[in-house]
Amino acid sequence: MDIIVRLNRVSVIRANGPILKNINWTVRRGEKWAVLGANGSGKSFLLNVVSSGLFPSEGSVELFGARLGERDVWEIRSRIGMVSDLLQKAYDERTIVEDVICSGFFWSIGIYREISGGMRRAARSAAEGLSIGHLLSRRYGALSHGEQKRVIIARALVNDPELLVLDEPAGGLDFPAREELLASVDRLARSGRTVIYVTHHVEEILPSFNRALLMKNGAVHSSGDRGDVLNERLLNEALGYRFTLVEKDGRLWPRHY
Ligand SMILES: Nc1ncnc2c1ncn2[C@@H]1O[C@H](COP(=O)(O)OP(=O)(O)OP(=O)(O)O)[C@@H](O)[C@H]1O
Ligand SMILES: [Mg+2]
Repeated sequence: MDIIVRLNRVSVIRANGPILKNINWTVRRGEKWAVLGANGSGKSFLLNVVSSGLFPSEGSVELFGARLGERDVWEIRSRIGMVSDLLQKAYDERTIVEDVICSGFFWSIGIYREISGGMRRAARSAAEGLSIGHLLSRRYGALSHGEQKRVIIARALVNDPELLVLDEPAGGLDFPAREELLASVDRLARSGRTVIYVTHHVEEILPSFNRALLMKNGAVHSSGDRGDVLNERLLNEALGYRFTLVEKDGRLWPRHY
């Protein structure tokens, strides 16, 4: 099976010490990974490394079979769709939604190149797939938080990426909005793409996700097949508090003490 991401002994070190410590991780084509960890455990840093936005201090990163630094980074980036809070907050509120989505073609926030008719058609189709086709001509700042999330997901999808990297895409959504977003993620996951989904909430992990990685204090606590990793013992250890799990329709729901 094709290897999409391979991290070999990756560390990210800042003035105060290491943020990521000696990470080994292999993501194969078509796998759906859930990544969980407490606040500050290094999930967003890990995703930034995986999406080629951050070069590690130590270790090597291979994306689509090439070592990061040895192939044009823009060619690599054109194969990755990224969603994060930082991206969601980066747009000027006056930007038209269609332009936000089209900026995904350039891995940028601003638009510095001409948007072709084909790009606009792709933006419409990505928006319609997420039920936000009616918002295309609106100003980004006039949308609700949940609508903006969908716009940022459409932006990530517009280029038909092989790897989709979602950093807490359901953060800040109310229950119905979260469930609707998860239904979209489920459709994407079943489309054969490789997906990495970061969350704090075990119940967001859909049955279509077959692999899981738990982060703790900047290191991998455990990783592997969903069934081997998503259990009370490992999750309690990695997340640092006690809860039990109840399974319903293939999803695990925590019951806190
Ligand atoms: N510029 C920086 N320099 C040094 N440390 C930083 C910097 N930015 C973030 N950190 C620290 O790096 C650690 C990992 O941060 P990261 O954002 O990856 O955590 P996270 O697991 O995504 O957390 P959350 O669940 O809150 O999003 C945190 O302890 C954070 O305080
Ligand atoms: Mg984070």
